[in-house]
Amino acid sequence: MWDQSQLRKYDLTLEAIPRLHHADPKIDEYIADNKPVVIAGSRVIRPAVDKWDMDYMEKCLGGPGLTVFVSQSHKFKYFDENKVQYCLRHGIDFVPPTRRCKMRIGEFVRRLREWKKGDDRLYLQQAVNSSVGNVVKDFMKFDWEYLAGKQAKHNWGPLSSNLLLLSMEGNVTPCHYDEQQNFFGQVYGYKRCILFPPSDYECLYPHPLYHPHDRQSMVDFDKPDYSRFPKFKKARGCEAVLEPGDILYIPIYWWHHVESLMRAGPTISVNFWYKGGPISLEYPLKDHQKVSISRNVEKMLVEVLQDPKEVGPLLEMMAGGRFGE
Ligand code: FUM
Ligand code: FE
Repeated sequence: MWDQSQLRKYDLTLEAIPRLHHADPKIDEYIADNKPVVIAGSRVIRPAVDKWDMDYMEKCLGGPGLTVFVSQSHKFKYFDENKVQYCLRHGIDFVPPTRRCKMRIGEFVRRLREWKKGDDRLYLQQAVNSSVGNVVKDFMKFDWEYLAGKQAKHNWGPLSSNLLLLSMEGNVTPCHYDEQQNFFGQVYGYKRCILFPPSDYECLYPHPLYHPHDRQSMVDFDKPDYSRFPKFKKARGCEAVLEPGDILYIPIYWWHHVESLMRAGPTISVNFWYKGGPISLEYPLKDHQKVSISRNVEKMLVEVLQDPKEVGPLLEMMAGGRFGE
């Protein structure tokens, strides 16, 4: 089990994400509404929950080149490598906060066991495919019928990928949103997830679209700079601590920050990402649709202006002081 002292401290007001039994029909109301919910006691990932730990991974997770991120801090802020080149070409400084490397599972597990304070931290994040060894056999035994039922009922697109996440205790994936629906399955150990709705877009100050940290919040939760990000004070999040067997529905475009609890051992999770369903423009637009539209506008501006540094000033010129009434 865990206690409050294992959660990192943030200057945030947080409610609890509802936690419902997997057979509870209310789950579908939350999903239909694009609201997060913890699905407890589900059989979906049971074959993994029953067996997986780091020893099992060492035996059954194969392949010469598993993707591992290396960080000097507890934060693993995602960045898009293609956009790094773009920034360099346009004279925008960018220092990657993590290093991506390829590792065998044996080396990863050994480094976790030998880890001491001050060493680099590691986070294995590997797409599941036929090259990852025997763990695939456990995947085949997942309750795909339950997943397909939810996917069909809520008109989601196809399953696009599964990501396997093996984390050290205390690692943090800083706040960001994804453009896909996510069933986030907790297999081993404990993870805390803090979510914010798409309507908190302004409070979380996403990096510009052209930036390698596109979709990531610019706010450092450990040390928020309120002079730059004053609306962060208004962000209203919700949270859940996931335990083995839990599945958290993270709705498309919802912000999420994920941390493996401190002093609680390593964690293993698996993501099920689904493409969003066909867009039906019913009015009033939903908040996540507004985010999607604003992304398209920003993308178009970057394309036509050619110089990313002109995007902000043009948007200021368009909106500054004109629509505040
Ligand atoms: O660290 C994490 O488990 C992050 C997951 C996600 O962003 O979907
Ligand atoms: Fe994510």
